[in-house]
Amino acid sequence: MTATFEVTVRVPAKVNLGLAVGGPRPDGYHDLATVFHAVSLYDDLTATLRDDDGVTVRVEGVQATLVPEDESNLAVRAVRLLAERMGIEAGVDLHIRKGIPVAGGMAGGSADAAAALVACDALWNLGLPRSEMLELAAELGSDVSFALLGGTAIGTGRGERLTPALARGDYHWVIALAEFGLSTPAVYGELDRLRARRVLPEPRVPDRLMKALRSGDPQALGDSLSNDLQPAACSLAPSLTDTLAVGRDYGALGGLVSGSGPTVFFLARDTEHALDLAVALTASGTARDVRRVHGPVPGARLADPHRSPDAASRRS
Ligand code: C5P
Repeated sequence: MTATFEVTVRVPAKVNLGLAVGGPRPDGYHDLATVFHAVSLYDDLTATLRDDDGVTVRVEGVQATLVPEDESNLAVRAVRLLAERMGIEAGVDLHIRKGIPVAGGMAGGSADAAAALVACDALWNLGLPRSEMLELAAELGSDVSFALLGGTAIGTGRGERLTPALARGDYHWVIALAEFGLSTPAVYGELDRLRARRVLPEPRVPDRLMKALRSGDPQALGDSLSNDLQPAACSLAPSLTDTLAVGRDYGALGGLVSGSGPTVFFLARDTEHALDLAVALTASGTARDVRRVHGPVPGARLADPHRSPDAASRRS
């Protein structure tokens, strides 16, 4: 018999409004102090029940060909981890529609893993407590936990330890997607090279960024965006400085490389200014694509409650 029941989960991309990076740790990671912010650029993941314990994944959308459709896909690993921890033999077919750039510094792979956890929890009727889901997320990758939580949150450790941030306001962002991807480990490696022999303080989220978020003042927020990885991303991809300059020339309140890049994001004053910025960035030819988004938005959520596990079990 073929599978009948399915759930769809919508999951947002993230940007880092502040990203302070410490020195390399013995495990190869870096301690971070970051402010994650979820924006309205989404992947949609549909999980369909199977009657065996197989797991498949199919990816469609922009740059879909760059995403592996095998066991190395982070969403597949999320499904396997969840089944193993719950001691169940269950399978699923995953279908991912990508709206988040691949290898763009916006945690697209992590988002899919978070979506897979939420989808399978619902599909298999597990009712996993949020704290346990967050633990599984942290095992899968540094940014997976935040994709579950969404909103605006402070991340410490390697980014997986989260505290919701006291933040006010809804912001208009313009996202410039690059023609190329950047490897996260390569960008961290370049940062280590650029900072070799420097004594590094413990990473901290700047006070002025937290103050700006509490005030809800877009100008103050624009002035306090910061990312330690930006010089490393620009060193590996110098064209990013041209993209950043376009935003500055057109009055962006702030502009920053997102995470390890190469996506660059800008803060606009309002909807109209966001449109002006988007037009200018498109005309400049420095971006593959330009999107207007807003934030904060919630983390991974069931997109269609009528197809939730309760509905599925009523029909079984
Ligand atoms: O955790 P995740 O798989 O997303 O990390 C990808 C890579 O990024 C790591 O293997 C590591 O090289 C680098 N990284 C890091 N420090 C962090 C997060 C990621 O060095 N806090």
